[in-house]
Amino acid sequence: MHRLQPHQRQALEAAARQACACAYAPYSQFPVGAAVLTEEGRIVPGCNVENASLGLSCCAERTALFSAVSQGLGKIVALAIYTPTAGPTLPCGACLQVLREFAADCLVISVCDGEDPLEKFLKTLLPAPFRGQNSPELGA
Ligand code: THU
Repeated sequence: MHRLQPHQRQALEAAARQACACAYAPYSQFPVGAAVLTEEGRIVPGCNVENASLGLSCCAERTALFSAVSQGLGKIVALAIYTPTAGPTLPCGACLQVLREFAADCLVISVCDGEDPLEKFLKTLLPAPFRGQNSPELGA
């Protein structure tokens, strides 16, 4: 498991908070910011981007992850989520499954405006991911 340095954690949380300001959530009114930390120490932000079709909307976690992968930054060691709510928000099941492909040992940190941050390992949140016929080893 990757050990997160305090300065990395602070920067990751700050990036998630900042990304939330870019959220496009006119339909749900539920803005979400996220940021992933790569093995190389890079931080990549993402926000939720909704669409009039609703079904085409994308969560903040997947926006951040897809952006990191698009930049050739494959291995993710931590993910921070920020929501301007009283309690912390955890990633939805779809995002957990997508994260698991690139970030089996990922630490998930959720920060909000009320309670203390919530921290869980991805493997705890999704202990039994879907594995297709050609799935790479996702690290049981
Ligand atoms: N959403 C996220 O971005 N991340 C989550 O972990 C949960 C939900 C978004 C999707 C949608 O734009 C809005 O929040 C309401 O569900």
